[in-house]
Amino acid sequence: MTKIFGHRGASKVCPENTMAAYTRAYEMGADGLEIDVHLTSDGIPVIIHDDTVKRTTNGKGYVKHFTLAEIKQLDAGSWFSLAFQHERILTLEEFLQWICRTPLLLNIELKNNKVHYEDLEKKVYSLVNAYGMKERTIYSSFNHYSLVQLRSMDPYIDIAPLYSSAIYEPWNYAKSMGALSVHPQFKSLHPIILESLQEHGIRVRPYTVNQEKWLHYFLDWQVDAIITDTPDVAVAIRNGEIP
Ligand code: G3P
Ligand code: MG
Repeated sequence: MTKIFGHRGASKVCPENTMAAYTRAYEMGADGLEIDVHLTSDGIPVIIHDDTVKRTTNGKGYVKHFTLAEIKQLDAGSWFSLAFQHERILTLEEFLQWICRTPLLLNIELKNNKVHYEDLEKKVYSLVNAYGMKERTIYSSFNHYSLVQLRSMDPYIDIAPLYSSAIYEPWNYAKSMGALSVHPQFKSLHPIILESLQEHGIRVRPYTVNQEKWLHYFLDWQVDAIITDTPDVAVAIRNGEIP
């Protein structure tokens, strides 16, 4: 059965990557959550999408220039709606303390494709293991060198290269870095490529699939998972409640 991942939580109806967005996606019946991780200036993994805090908080500047204490002062909800003004940027550890008590799957996206974060891979990997999440965590990144580094640390974890344009024979590319999963931008997935990926035993989890027609399409293809801002709609279609 195709799994449904809430992209940054239930990010259509809640401010992305906040506790409100995660609990909402869980209530909607998502099987898993996709989150984005950076490091603060004092080396703490925190959950936010952009390299800077400008779009999703009341602050400005690069995440890497904030200490944890400073970034915790920011309001991470009001940009979306005043109803969420108490939301704060979460540390990865705070998030893991919550998710480890649920049955949810986890997809951690390492956001180091433009900004370099020293030892991000090791820090994230050890926290995931410390909270017993190793078996249900997928690591993805647009920085494929990071995924190779994770693979060298552990031969069994699920690593998945993210990509936004079609690449040549992605099953060979994935295997070349020891990956058995890929996370392609959904429009880059030509049916012939999708079929070949499945024939080669590569797990396919397209992002970010929000329109009903595309949700139907990838559910019909029985992809391994769909990453979506609207997990409620995806679950309803999977349940046959939306024809
Ligand atoms: O992990 C899927 C998706 O989140 C990748 O792109 O920019 O939404 O983090 P982005
Ligand atoms: Mg992401």
